[in-house]
Amino acid sequence: MSADPVRVSVAGTTPYDVVIGRHLLPELSELLLGADRVAVLYSAVLGERAEAVLAVLGNRGYPVVVPDGEAAKTVAVAARCWDLLARTGFTRNDAIVGLGGGAVTDLAGWVAASWLRGVRIVHLPTTMLGMVDAAIGGKTGINLDSGKNLVGAFHPPAGVLCDLDALRTLPARDYVAGLAEVVKCGFIADPVILDLIEDDPAAAATVGELTPELVRRSVQVKADVVGADLRESGLREILNYGHTLGHAVERAESYRWRHGDAVAVGLIFAAELSRLAGRLSADVVQRHRDLLFGLGLPVAYDHAPWEMLRSFMRVDKKSRGDRLRFVVLDDVARPSTLDNPDEQLLAAAYATLEGA
Ligand code: GLY
Repeated sequence: MSADPVRVSVAGTTPYDVVIGRHLLPELSELLLGADRVAVLYSAVLGERAEAVLAVLGNRGYPVVVPDGEAAKTVAVAARCWDLLARTGFTRNDAIVGLGGGAVTDLAGWVAASWLRGVRIVHLPTTMLGMVDAAIGGKTGINLDSGKNLVGAFHPPAGVLCDLDALRTLPARDYVAGLAEVVKCGFIADPVILDLIEDDPAAAATVGELTPELVRRSVQVKADVVGADLRESGLREILNYGHTLGHAVERAESYRWRHGDAVAVGLIFAAELSRLAGRLSADVVQRHRDLLFGLGLPVAYDHAPWEMLRSFMRVDKKSRGDRLRFVVLDDVARPSTLDNPDEQLLAAAYATLEGA
């Protein structure tokens, strides 16, 4: 993998850079200039990486070990972090670093957004999903028993440092699951991503030569979207392509499925729905199936009855009122929306997932 860092700028009222490369800790020092205290939130599995970060911070650094994965995104864990900030006298001038996957950066972002009504946050994502999606765009939050991400805020980071070396220790299945978001970026905005994966699916499915370009292109897609629409009042909605059914599948699987696996199934559902609504050609739908299958992602789903998934979609926070709204495609890189689709169309799209 190339050692030259690449910078992708995210526009907005507080613009920032996403830096993609290796050995990025000198950049961290710059992003934290002026902070007297820096809390580094990470899960125990990343102890070695956290030590390297804390070594850069010296006596400004405060380690905060949080649970791994979604277990980090609770009110209790956030409260424990706030207590630590209170005990150590964190001021508005101080900063928080989120080191880990999407769950840890979501938590760290929310702690930063809520502490003293907002302090600086820098994200160091260590997973593919974190690098191309969760750490960019300022969405932060925690889960409640009644649903995921129900409490949170838009709080853009001061910077995001994607150290590609972190992906080398990521379990292969987690890397592949993160690629579902990469494929999504390809279909909604950057067809070159699709070409790169189709040229060599096996290479794309492993950390290697293709990784920097896939990350860079996906980050660029996300940066362009959230730079234009931070608060999801319009364009940002396209990032939800494949997620409406995907979130319902995650819930049906009691959140034991990886997010990316559920999104893969959701992408096929959204493509089929687009086709059945007369928007998208069968060829492009097949392209979804071939690409996702080629990467080793799930392309079939029949574990839950349609009625269950349909009822879960009703409470998806992205639906407006009782009406369902889907991101669909008119063609590759031409996302659009479909409001309140016919129930038969939805059921028919789901039926195509059965044992595909
Ligand atoms: N993950 C979708 C978004 O950031 O809007």
